[in-house]
Amino acid sequence: MEKKLSIAIDGPAAAGKSTVAKIVAEKLSYIYIDTGAMYRALTYKAVVNELNLEEESALFDTLLSTEIKLLPSDNGQLVFLDNKDVTKEIRSSKVTNSVSYVAKHPLIRQEMVRRQQAFATEGGVVMDGRDIGTHVLPRAEVKIFLLASVDERAVRRHTENVQKGFPSDLNKLKEEIAQRDKIDSERETAPLKKADDAVEIDTTSLTIPDVVEKIMALVQERIGLG
Ligand code: CDP
Ligand code: CDP
Repeated sequence: MEKKLSIAIDGPAAAGKSTVAKIVAEKLSYIYIDTGAMYRALTYKAVVNELNLEEESALFDTLLSTEIKLLPSDNGQLVFLDNKDVTKEIRSSKVTNSVSYVAKHPLIRQEMVRRQQAFATEGGVVMDGRDIGTHVLPRAEVKIFLLASVDERAVRRHTENVQKGFPSDLNKLKEEIAQRDKIDSERETAPLKKADDAVEIDTTSLTIPDVVEKIMALVQERIGLG
């Protein structure tokens, strides 16, 4: 039987990670894990409970008593927080603009990484995030770092918002994406960083099928190596 690999996909906001990770997972019949959704779910709970996002110990206690489940569905991955479906709520701009403040705390990251590694013990997983290749799955057989210019990424999110009928301001989106990238890249614990052995793909002028094709070629190469 073909060996089941672990595939790590990292990169900044709106680089296309979750879109291509989902397609690659489907093609290979692997499970897809969106680690950003886990940080978003905790952030949603913290915002609803009006926790101070700078207070690591209160956030950590909350996380320890919180169940976060990621379930595949025909409409994409569903996110359950303490058995409540919060798939839509975790994408609000309030959560998006708060999540990096929650994700910078070392204790929060340690517990999230523990949970994420537990999903991947058998291989056969495509996981996307910021620190998958560097910390969560350092021995992943395929590591990808997706990039795109901040202008292109803002346009992508804007287009997505418009298609969904959400209010959207391109310039504001650009500022928010740049700010989130800055916090994610500058934090001390497991910052957003390309792993030394990751393959970088600049997707600025690539289509989604182009990116999927490049990743599948790398996967086939690894499978071929045995
Ligand atoms: O989809 P988008 O790129 O906008 O973000 P996401 O993947 O949902 O991640 C939301 C936030 O969670 C990021 O901006 C990081 O602050 C944090 N995150 C992280 O620190 N480490 C990960 N492995 C995944 C997400
Ligand atoms: O997960 P991440 O935040 O990195 O990005 P995403 O949510 O997968 O992609 C953001 C948007 O860019 C989606 O609407 C994708 O359809 C779009 N996209 C694109 O237009 N071209 C690509 N090469 C990749 C993604």
